Amino acid sequence: MATYLVCGGAGYIGSHMCKHLHEAGHHVVVCDDLSTGHAGALLWGAHAYGSIEDLEFLRSLFSQYQFDGVLHFAALSVVAESMREPQRYYRNNVAATLNLLRVMREFEVNKFVFSSTAAVFGEPQARMISEDHPTVPLNPYGLSKLMVEQVLRDSCRAYGLRAVALRYFNAAGADPYGRIGEAHDPETHLIPKLVRKALGEDLSVSINGTDYPTEDGTCIRDYVHVDDLAQAHVLALDHLDHAVGMHSFNLGNGTGHSVKQVVDAVREVTGERLDIPVAGRRAGDPSHLVASSKFARSVLGWEPRYTRIGDVIETAVRWHGSETCAAWLETLDGAEVAVQSHLGDDNKPQQYRQG
Ligand code: UFG
Repeated sequence: MATYLVCGGAGYIGSHMCKHLHEAGHHVVVCDDLSTGHAGALLWGAHAYGSIEDLEFLRSLFSQYQFDGVLHFAALSVVAESMREPQRYYRNNVAATLNLLRVMREFEVNKFVFSSTAAVFGEPQARMISEDHPTVPLNPYGLSKLMVEQVLRDSCRAYGLRAVALRYFNAAGADPYGRIGEAHDPETHLIPKLVRKALGEDLSVSINGTDYPTEDGTCIRDYVHVDDLAQAHVLALDHLDHAVGMHSFNLGNGTGHSVKQVVDAVREVTGERLDIPVAGRRAGDPSHLVASSKFARSVLGWEPRYTRIGDVIETAVRWHGSETCAAWLETLDGAEVAVQSHLGDDNKPQQYRQG
């Protein structure tokens, strides 16, 4: 049984990670500042309220626990926002990660699994994107993740860090029991928007462009279930027991679905008619983004379980229809939430402002 720090463990992918680590028998400690995460997602392990931008907070956390490794999900991840506020993205995604790596070195913790993204590749030059595809990000979000990958490569060489960067394609779905899932406001991603609309929410959704060079003219993406992503991290931690240096892996199902196919799949799962109008292209959308995850399959032994888009959507429908999801969305407007911080003076729940 190992002890892992999950930075951003109250977020969408981070909370699924905590569940998987807990189920694998590990001890989990979350650090999260609840800027985008949800207090309600803190279901597994201990947690400390705080930001990785705060060096002293990190030092006190690392003095309290002997971590066997760190998994880092605490990042901003909206492409359009990164275009409007690049410095915020570089401060949060790059500078704060440097803090974390600095404290890891001070406390001699040398296993690191990093949430990276398909956005490091930019405009795809191949139908299936493998790890050696050129990395030319089109936005500060993708560049911030690529910068950290470079920092990790250099840190592995210079300090003996062991690191894995996992480049997610389109994360989707939710815990099949509806305990945790995605809850953003405003929501920008295709599947949650369609599902929420199908469930009756008054949400504006359109098909962003039908003139792409694809069979039906709409963009193709590789949707991968969030539990499959979390499972890849568990395997990456095992890999770091024997692998030195830095390794990047692409994580996707290897199957592309167009926007129109996703709309049809949501119709099929929910039984709703779902009238989705066609709009113009959204700036910065590549036509086709599909992963070759052969490397992750052969080296890590990763085998995604959710290979049918309908099964992924079904879990999203269960989650978005739940009372828990509705409650989480309500707390996003700066609501006061009680969080048991394990670093508090008296270890009693304290009030923090969410969002
Ligand atoms: N789309 C619509 N209508 C909507 C929302 C999305 O047609 O209302 C389309 C988009 O234009 C795109 C596809 O659905 O063609 C998927 O869009 P998402 O917003 O769900 O996801 P992205 O592919 O834009 O984003 C993902 C990750 C990012 C990552 C990016 C890399 O979520 O973190 O891929 O390109 F940076």
